[in-house]
Amino acid sequence: MQTITSITQRPCPPIILGKVLALQMAGEAKRKSMSLHIEAKQGEIARTVLLAGDPLRAKSVADSLLEDAVCYNRVRNMFGYTGFYKGKRVSIQGTGMGMPSLSIYVNELLQDYGVENLIRVGTCGSIIKSLDHDQVILATGASGDSQANKLHFGGMDFAPVADFSLLIDAYHVAEKLGIHTVQGSVFSTDLFYHHDDKRWDIWLEHGIIAVEMETQALYTIAPRYGAKALSILTVSDNIVTGESSSSEEREHAYTDMTKIALEIAL
Ligand code: HPA
Repeated sequence: MQTITSITQRPCPPIILGKVLALQMAGEAKRKSMSLHIEAKQGEIARTVLLAGDPLRAKSVADSLLEDAVCYNRVRNMFGYTGFYKGKRVSIQGTGMGMPSLSIYVNELLQDYGVENLIRVGTCGSIIKSLDHDQVILATGASGDSQANKLHFGGMDFAPVADFSLLIDAYHVAEKLGIHTVQGSVFSTDLFYHHDDKRWDIWLEHGIIAVEMETQALYTIAPRYGAKALSILTVSDNIVTGESSSSEEREHAYTDMTKIALEIAL
């Protein structure tokens, strides 16, 4: 695996800087590091980016499924890689957990790098008893409890939905690969831990099938930049039955889901 040298790996500058040197360094940083949290240079990120919550997952996908992968981001260890899948240039970026963290990376990918397609590959907890762990879900829409949308839309409700063309492509590709998918609406929460056992009842009554922590933000920010977005999720645990998949099962299911994402990458 080839890696790029980042500005964070260079020797630290002297503490007292002359004005000219300081200005030179600021210019250099601006040219080389194009956003606050991603240090990739222009052109180093593909137009389609897979988003993995766990940056080590991004690394493992790059290692196992991409060819000639190059690491373009090490800032905060939130790794990002660009490589090739069946000849197509594609990137995978770690986002961290939750909407505040994902929003930083999604905003910067769209605003500073002109990314056009974002496909989240993540895990979720099912709130339907019969939905087994390892089930792959194509998230058609995302409700949630974050205040972010209320702030953005002046207290009104925006309905965050998947891009239809990515959704339909994912559905057909999964069928071709023999991977069973369930299509449904998910709930993105800011609270992984909550004291109320009955918390999910009202959402279940309204057709929500699973809970995670990122999709609502993704489906809100992407259309703001004219970009396409889809969340493909694997059920890692069933919130009703308490069952969860073993790490081996999770690995297998994660690979299935990632293959769907890579196949539909544009
Ligand atoms: N809650 C929120 N996010 C999750 C869960 C959960 O139970 N499982 C996987 N992601």
